[in-house]
Amino acid sequence: MAEWNRHRIERLYRAGEKGEADHAGPGATLLRLIRDEPLHDRTILDVGCGSGRLTFALAKDAGRMIGIDRSHEAIERARQRAAALRLDRVTFHCLDAEAMNYRDLGPISLVVANLCMSNEIIRRAGAALSPGDLIVFAAFHLDQWKESGRVSRYAYGEGQVETALSEAGFKQIYLGVEREVLSLATLDEGLSYLEASGMSGKWKADGRWEGFLTYLQSGGRELTVSARVMVKARRR
Ligand SMILES: C[S@@+](CC[C@H](N)C(=O)[O-])C[C@H]1O[C@@H](n2cnc3c(N)ncnc32)[C@H](O)[C@@H]1O
Repeated sequence: MAEWNRHRIERLYRAGEKGEADHAGPGATLLRLIRDEPLHDRTILDVGCGSGRLTFALAKDAGRMIGIDRSHEAIERARQRAAALRLDRVTFHCLDAEAMNYRDLGPISLVVANLCMSNEIIRRAGAALSPGDLIVFAAFHLDQWKESGRVSRYAYGEGQVETALSEAGFKQIYLGVEREVLSLATLDEGLSYLEASGMSGKWKADGRWEGFLTYLQSGGRELTVSARVMVKARRR
C-alpha cells in the first residue's frame, strides 16, 4: 500500500453544538493541494460542483473554470452567482458526470471535486486528461459516521482509492485521510448532537439512528463526524 498522510482531530462534545451534516465546504487541505499548482493557464473542471463553492473559491486563480452538476437547481444558483460577480471565465453546465465525455467540454488540464467522487468519475477524468495533467479531490472515507453501522455508497477506503487511480492511469502525488472525532461523555450527548444537527429524522428513517443507539448502549462514546480521503494524482 502507498504511504498515506493521516490526521485525526479528537475533541470533546460541547453542549448544544450543531454539526454540519453531510455538506461541508472545500477544506484547507483540498484548497492547498489545488493552489500549490500554477492555475492561471489551466482550464479546471469542478465535478459535482453543486452551487459552486469550490468553483468560486478557485475562480480568480484559474485560467478558466467549468462546473458541472446533475442538479438543475444547484446549477441555476451557481449561474446566478457567477453573473452577479461578473465572472466571464466561469461556466456551469447541468450534466451527469458519470455519463459524459469530459473532452466534450473542451481541453481540460485539471479535474477537481469536493465530495462528489466515484470510480466512474475517476475513469472519465483519466480518459479526458493528457499525461502530466492532474486530478485533485476530497471524498468521503469509509469511516464517516461509522458508529451508525452504515457506510455511504459514495465512500472510499484507502485500497479502493489506489486501485481506482491506478486503473484510470493516474500516479498518486498525495494521499491523505482526515478524521474529526467527537468524544462523548454520555449516551445522551450523542443523541443530543444528532438532534441539534437536524440529523435525527434522516437517521431514524434510514436505520442509522438505531445503529448509533446500539453502539452507544454498548458503551461506545465516539462519533466520527468527518472522515475524508484527500487525493492528488497525475495522469501517466
Ligand atoms: C456533497 S455535494 C458537494 C457539492 C460541491 N462540490 C460543494 O463542495 O459544495 C455533491 C454534489 O454532487 C452532485 N452529483 C452527484 N452525482 C453526480 C453526477 N453523477 N453527476 C453530476 N453531479 C453529481 C450532487 O448533485 C451534489 O450537488
